[in-house]
Amino acid sequence: MVQYDNARRVVQALRPEQPMLLRRPHALRRAASFFQEHFPGHIFYAVKANPSPWILEGLWDAGIERFDVASLEEVRAVRSGFPEAEIAYMHPIKPEAAIAEAYHEHGVRIFSLDSLRELDKIQRATGDASDLTLCVRMQVASDLAKISLASKFGVRETDEVALLQATRAVAQRLGVAFHVGSQAMSPAGFAGAMERTARAVRRSGVFIDILDVGGGFPAHYPGMEPPQLEGYLGEITSRWEDFPSAANAELWCEPGRALCAEAESLLVHVDDRRDNTLYINDGSFGALYDAAHLDWRFPVTNQSRSSDRLVAFDLFGPTCDDADAMRGPFFLPAATDAGDYLEFGTLGAYGRAMATKFNGYGQYDHASVSDDPFPSLYTGADHQAAEEAHS
Ligand SMILES: Cc1ncc(COP(=O)(O)O)c(C=O)c1O
Repeated sequence: MVQYDNARRVVQALRPEQPMLLRRPHALRRAASFFQEHFPGHIFYAVKANPSPWILEGLWDAGIERFDVASLEEVRAVRSGFPEAEIAYMHPIKPEAAIAEAYHEHGVRIFSLDSLRELDKIQRATGDASDLTLCVRMQVASDLAKISLASKFGVRETDEVALLQATRAVAQRLGVAFHVGSQAMSPAGFAGAMERTARAVRRSGVFIDILDVGGGFPAHYPGMEPPQLEGYLGEITSRWEDFPSAANAELWCEPGRALCAEAESLLVHVDDRRDNTLYINDGSFGALYDAAHLDWRFPVTNQSRSSDRLVAFDLFGPTCDDADAMRGPFFLPAATDAGDYLEFGTLGAYGRAMATKFNGYGQYDHASVSDDPFPSLYTGADHQAAEEAHS
């Protein structure tokens, strides 16, 4: 992988015709070491956020050796790359054949569930195995998160006692798990979920071996600036001290976004300009899915011209659909025009993971860059240096 100083150098050297994903291995390492330093438990990387081999290898090299997967395909990918990895299959509703293959062929012992039917299924698929770690997914509020995960999965209060007791009866290790929603904008979301989960544990009278606080840790996007990540991990750590659990119980988390968001940016070409709308070569069916479907504004810079006056632009992607539109506003130099290159930052999470091949697009070239992502949620000297470089 050729390494450049920054996106501008990539443009000068390559003038790429396809969109490019620019990797920042140092940002990935920094996020991993932040979690290792501040989270007093086991970190499972949520593969769905970015399943690229370079991300998985980078995290593995940084010491993240546990992976949260959502499908059999992700089980296979992680197991083939990392025979020693610990894999948690945390989708609460899995195909029975997938559970069987995960258990019998890939050594997966950790599964989540949110119903008695799923518990039966796991037992059938594993031949009533006695070495299972089963994590009961609680239904918790997503009010403080930008993307709700509250309505689809999670056992309700009315059913939680029966499910926790039944799962305890067959699990070697019992866990309770939740997800406060993705891009959680306040540590209070975790506080509320931990309170609700502690109540369920007390009501059911079971002892638990694991509390899994899931993902949801945020990244920094324009208009969505969360508080410092230290606050989230501090809140979890202090509440964990009083959590009703076995003395040797483990605390787990499953961050996706927060580990990989800053590790990739997207470099696109401006194919045309009409008024203040730019036609670019990636879009809502590509890595800019969230910009189109959630109206998220990613940080964007014109890497072909220095900023004069900034004005608001809308963007269209390359396919023939009206739906391939990102309304922004994206603030770019007023003179931005066809032939320019734009870099979107903070696109490592749920960027390339969402890209399709619709209309024949969705191919990306790759390069590595050594400048810092901007903005960054990881504070310290690097963060300040990046701010100075971009000011
Ligand atoms: C079970 C589970 N764990 C972890 C994650 C990762 O969440 P995030 O990327 O918000 O950290 C998700 C995301 O959907 C999830 O469903």
